[in-house]
Amino acid sequence: MKIAIAIDGPAGAGKSTIAKIIGDKYNLMYINTGAMYRAVTLCAMNEGIEPHQVEELCRLVDSLEMHFDKENLIVNGVDVTSEITMPLISNNVSNYAAIAEIRAKLVELQRNISEKYSVIMDGRDIGTVVLINADLKFFLTASAEERARRRYEELKGRDIEVEYNTILQDIIKRDYMDTHREVDPLTKAEDAVEINSSDLDINGVVNVISDYIDKYLANK
Ligand code: DC
Repeated sequence: MKIAIAIDGPAGAGKSTIAKIIGDKYNLMYINTGAMYRAVTLCAMNEGIEPHQVEELCRLVDSLEMHFDKENLIVNGVDVTSEITMPLISNNVSNYAAIAEIRAKLVELQRNISEKYSVIMDGRDIGTVVLINADLKFFLTASAEERARRRYEELKGRDIEVEYNTILQDIIKRDYMDTHREVDPLTKAEDAVEINSSDLDINGVVNVISDYIDKYLANK
């Protein structure tokens, strides 16, 4: 049986951590769509292409072969997983992710993957656009301060120099851009289960989601 699970929510809510664990537990391919937008941003910035240069951007995206190897994103044969989480990319990705033509291309790619495999896909528009008919949809939230704290700890753990306040401002700015952009803004799908993870640890969230999945599978 093929299933599709959507997890949406703002930056730093823990989507990718949770999606990886659930993916492993239920043998689903984990698709980190934020990584795909980040990879386009990285390649565009390397080539000096700005967000308003839509034609050049489209040509660039068409020249990129992207696939996931477990949780790593490989672009034209190169593993970009670590590079795309650097603050320079985080600070610019919303501008590229706001371009309708780029979104259309990445959404098509994401749908193609979900047609072939059982997936757990995380992002901003998975339940509302990419996988409208997902079997289960979750919307993961947490306060901006808690999300900034988690991202700060994660980057510090990787020896990347950052300041908590800079991260908090970046998260607030990205929340605003992601929820106010014209194309596919971040919103909770009507049929998504909302989980606020401010007071739940990773295991707590995994347990809530697992309960829904177990019930869903038991009724199939
Ligand atoms: O989840 P993330 O922080 O890695 O996402 C990076 C950016 O990409 C974020 O600013 C929003 C955007 N994004 C999007 O617009 N749609 C998605 N499905 C996933 C991410």
